[in-house]
Order: sequence, then structure tokens, then C-alpha cells
Amino acid sequence: MEHFIAGLPKLELHLHIEGTLEPELMFALAARNGLTLPWPDVGAVRAAYEFDNLQSFLDLYYLGASVLIHEQDFFDLTFAYLKRCAADKVVHVEIFFDPQTHTARGIPFEVVLGGIERALQAGEESFGISWRLIMSFLRHLSEEAAFATLAEAEPHLARLHGVGLDSGELGNPPTKFAGVFARARALGLPVVCHAGEEGPAAYIWQAINELQVRRIDHGVRCVDDPELLRYLADTRLPLTVCPLSNVRLKVFEDMGQHNVLTLLEKGLCITINSDDPAYFGGYLGANFEALARDLGASREQLCRLSLNAVEASWLSLADKARLTRDIRAHGACHDALPG
Ligand code: HPA
Ligand code: ZN
Repeated sequence: MEHFIAGLPKLELHLHIEGTLEPELMFALAARNGLTLPWPDVGAVRAAYEFDNLQSFLDLYYLGASVLIHEQDFFDLTFAYLKRCAADKVVHVEIFFDPQTHTARGIPFEVVLGGIERALQAGEESFGISWRLIMSFLRHLSEEAAFATLAEAEPHLARLHGVGLDSGELGNPPTKFAGVFARARALGLPVVCHAGEEGPAAYIWQAINELQVRRIDHGVRCVDDPELLRYLADTRLPLTVCPLSNVRLKVFEDMGQHNVLTLLEKGLCITINSDDPAYFGGYLGANFEALARDLGASREQLCRLSLNAVEASWLSLADKARLTRDIRAHGACHDALPG
């Protein structure tokens, strides 16, 4: 199974680049930038990664991101992630960045975007990994702040492929951002939204009806609403599910309780993603392995999850056809799919 997963072409559609900051790089960047971290060493940082819920993680995630100052820091962060992708046979990524986490500290938008984009281009050249870049608003901040960020992004719109919404979900429903998402759509940007991670199924409906999302990020609480389940199965509106993240943030007690395969078998367009792999104990390959090990996912189901990600991606039809063929060929070669 490990060999099968290692060779399966995979796509990542829910990944916060700031969440790929490994403690080793965090310390290296802190030293390079003359900053002091509140932990003595890498081991102490890892020991602090015990989370009770989303907010307890976000507190550390924003603290960690404070070592990112220069364009080269954002490049190094992103390129390190793409190296891990190449090792995991990830062939396409659609990643989030949180500009407000950086502009609030006085880091120019252009520095953040420039470093990430340069690394994505270098990763495409070195590893053949294609990519899209999604600017995400922080939902614990105001809609006004999101409007200001969108205005700052406007000169760079051709370099952005979509808009998302992340950070603390409870008490910050999608409707709070209906105006700025309408503006983003009017500018031609497709939109996605974290919903139904800790928040209720009603937030998923809001993301669909009021934000007009192309995908739901997480969305696992859809299981509480039979009508929503039917809607998601009928429309194939994709869910970017993050199994290791959900267990680490106690959305599910353990992997054995995760509903991802149940949702897959109901016909939803479920995809598998790593969210913030440096904090949650595994990149995309590890998420696939956890499904096989703890949920008994079959090779056929893992192929289907990868094919769903092709369907859910923002790739061209030609690229989708090529990746579909590659995944089917891998499945057939391992008797997971008909040849
Ligand atoms: N949920 C909400 N906000 C986030 C996450 C997440 O999983 N990761 C980074 N920001
Ligand atoms: Zn996320």
C-alpha cells in the first residue's frame, strides 16, 4: 500500500503556505532576521504542538509566521514545501496565502506575493509541479480589512487565481464577507471558503448561497444536514477535506471516527489535503496513508480521491485529461482500477 500511495499522482487543493513552516526553518529564519522565538529549541516548538481546537493552533501559527520578513524568506518557505511535494508525487498545488498576517506587521504585499510566486515558478521548473495561488482573508478581522486587502491586491490580480476565507470560524460566518466576496467575483476571481470545520452546516449553505463558492474547504459538518448532503452529491461541489488536521484540531476524536470515506461513498466530490502539514504531523502522502491504515481505504478509493482532486482543480481541460490518464494508468497497473 505504501508503494502504491507513493506512486499515485496527487493534487493538493487546501494548503496554507504559512502552515508549512517547519520548526527547523522557523529557527533558521529567526536567526537570519535577528528575532528571538519564545522557545529554546526546535524540540520545544514541536512539544508545543498540542492543540485543543482551531484557535489554539492559530495562536501558534500566527506567532510562527512572524519570522517571515524578506522576499527570500517567503521563497525559502514555499520552495521547501514544493520539495516535499515532489517527494510525495504531488503534481499540482492550489495554495493559500494570508496577506493580512504579514501586511499587519509592515511587510509589503509585493514582498509576500513575490517570494511565494518566484518559488512556485522555480518549483514548476525543477519538479514539474503546476500551481494556482489563492489569496485568503482572515475572518476574525473585519470585512473592511478584507476590502482593503483586496484593493491592495488589485494591481496584481493577474497573478492571483482566487480568493478564500480562513482563520477562526465560530462567530465569523461567511455572510460577514458577502460584500467583499461579491467584489472579488466581479473582478473575475473564483472564490472558496473554509466552512463546516468547527462551524455548523448552516455556514456551508451560506458559503454556497451567499459567497457562491467553487469549493468548500473542510465542510465535514455537512453530515449533519441530509438536504445539504444531497445537494453536494448532486452538484459535485467539491470539499477539500484535511484528515490529519481534523484529528489534530479535535474535529474528530481519532482517525477511526473520520467521516471522509462515508462522504466519498455518498457520491460527494471529496478531495484529500494537508492544510498546515508542519503543524499537523504530515504532508499529503501521510494523509493518504492515514486513510489506508486507520480507515481501511482501498486502492480504488484512493484513486477516486485523486481523480476527484483533478475534477475539483482549476486546471485546464487538457491538463485534467492528462492527469486523469496518469492516475488511471497507475490504478490499472496496481489492479485498483480496470485497465
Ligand atoms: N482553518 C482555518 N484557518 C486556518 C486553517 C484552518 O484549518 N489553517 C490556517 N488557517
Ligand atoms: Zn485550512
